[in-house]
Amino acid sequence: MHPDPSPIEELGSLRPYGIRDVARWDENARWLGLLPLQLMENAGRAVADVIETAFPDARRIAVLAGPGNNGGDGFVAARHLARNRTVDVYLVGRPEEIRTPEAKHNFALIAASPHVRVTALGAEDDVRALRLEAYDLILDALLGAGLRGAPRGLMRAAIEAINRHRPRRPVVAVDLPSGHPHEPTVEADVAVTFEWDKREYAGFARIVRPIGFLPELAHLVGPADVRPHLMRRGAHKGENGDLLILAGSARYPGAAALAALAAAPFVDRVFLARPGEAPPPSPAVIPVPLPDRPGGGRETFHPDDVALLRSYLEAADAVVLGPGLGRTPEALAFVRSVLAVLEALRRPHVVDADALYALEPSGSPGSERAVGPNASTEDAPSGGGADADPIRVLTPHGGEFRRLWTAAFAAAERSVEERTDLGSTYSIGPATPWADIAALGEATRRLAERWHAVVLRKGRLDMISDGRRWRYNLTGDVGLTAGGTGDVLAGLIGAFLARGVPPLEAAMTGAFLVGLTGETLARKVGPHYTAEAVAGALPEVTERVRRGDAPPRIASPFFP
Ligand SMILES: NC(=O)c1ccc[n+]([C@@H]2O[C@H](COP(=O)([O-])OP(=O)(O)OC[C@H]3O[C@@H](n4cnc5c(N)ncnc54)[C@H](OP(=O)(O)O)[C@@H]3O)[C@@H](O)[C@H]2O)c1
Repeated sequence: MHPDPSPIEELGSLRPYGIRDVARWDENARWLGLLPLQLMENAGRAVADVIETAFPDARRIAVLAGPGNNGGDGFVAARHLARNRTVDVYLVGRPEEIRTPEAKHNFALIAASPHVRVTALGAEDDVRALRLEAYDLILDALLGAGLRGAPRGLMRAAIEAINRHRPRRPVVAVDLPSGHPHEPTVEADVAVTFEWDKREYAGFARIVRPIGFLPELAHLVGPADVRPHLMRRGAHKGENGDLLILAGSARYPGAAALAALAAAPFVDRVFLARPGEAPPPSPAVIPVPLPDRPGGGRETFHPDDVALLRSYLEAADAVVLGPGLGRTPEALAFVRSVLAVLEALRRPHVVDADALYALEPSGSPGSERAVGPNASTEDAPSGGGADADPIRVLTPHGGEFRRLWTAAFAAAERSVEERTDLGSTYSIGPATPWADIAALGEATRRLAERWHAVVLRKGRLDMISDGRRWRYNLTGDVGLTAGGTGDVLAGLIGAFLARGVPPLEAAMTGAFLVGLTGETLARKVGPHYTAEAVAGALPEVTERVRRGDAPPRIASPFFP
């Protein structure tokens, strides 16, 4: 078992996140049940702690606060500091301009307290008349990560007022000095920033303090990761993508139909090439004619079909390959040829189900270089050149994942299989210890790196990696073990690829939405529903997520 990495420490040192990620973490934290009010309380408390520890002689403190959440953190800090210090809060702006419920709440608390004096400075003259020389320390809570452009109006005047007194009075900033990186900026002695140092922060002293973010947020797929990809891209035909599905066989026509039905609402056109006589699953799906094989009829795809399909492969924005194909030598040879064409075209694609069996280790006929894992660093890996971003999404379940692992790694590495139980689809669940989740995440990352693809390992927790990062999805329901839900997922991921969503994000979005749809159906009809019902319910669930209305993960009196 891998040691339990502490994600926050790991991230703090790498600084992989920027200011914009804060909003993403906030939204995902809220979805997990962590209230913004809790975060604000922790942030303000952390600022007060730093002042009490680093500036024990500061008995009279002025807090200059703005109407955003940066100001809200300042209101909380003021309440904590007022227990044993004199604290005056100057709101730069009018109380009715305070923006969020959390900041309003914390403002109301201090405004009602006899221990904090609160003054609103609604005009520039009020700010200019401010006398800060009476204070031992100034807390700058004017502007934080929500700053847009150089400080204007009242804020500018307040920053200048602080800087006039700065040489004589220590200044502590909430999150970052107000105005940074524009002019004027508060000249702070130190900023107390939260949870991790942000990529953009440079040129000022700062202390990082935790504010209670759940550590799993570093790897979790939440609504904030998915929502940006749910807008339709445009009102014109072609702007939402064309998807080509190469799937099914005379024996298994249903899998292809499910993939096409799931994708159809999300793209402009779905083209379905499927051997056999089955009629199109919906008038919205455009059938691609496949001529009879010599001798009549056809059971499955054949390598010769690649030439016939060439123009469709070239025209498609993305391709789904695999559901219900069967594993005949002809079908697998067809898959290998298609993969070579898709690579040459750099066309994003999903390799699912039976098509995964065409991915063979180097040495099997026709598989080297084009579809094998990069056996050595010099070898061209599958899914594009070694330096290019992956264009291929592999969607194995536990058993298929283990097979890909065995194919990709030499015997010594295969022992990881045993240690991490790579093949067991249902052994990892929401109650699994973090160390086990992290071990499987790292294994998924290594497999993705090896195959130069995005790997989505389907299971009770879906693991997703592009070879650099790994993420896990915890939406899902036991009802999703019904046959065909994997085909729905492959079709949906293909649809997002066709809309131009990058492969890692497309896989995360597909896994999140299918899992959430399973949960939604379970609430409505119980655990017995079909993959067709999942495909049918996807648009409604997608719309809820797009509106920011995904139900929170915990039951709590705070979530009605
Ligand atoms: N994990 C974390 O680190 C974390 C998490 C959550 C919250 N926080 C706290 O929340 C802060 C961000 O809060 P926020 O998004 O509400 O933004 P903010 O930094 O508090 O700033 C927003 C306010 O500043 C005003 N403003 C923006 N640009 C301006 C300019 N150039 N001149 C004058 N006024 C300007 C806005 O007015 P208009 O609306 O009129 O533009 C708005 O009232 C962080 O800095 C931190 O303190 C931190």
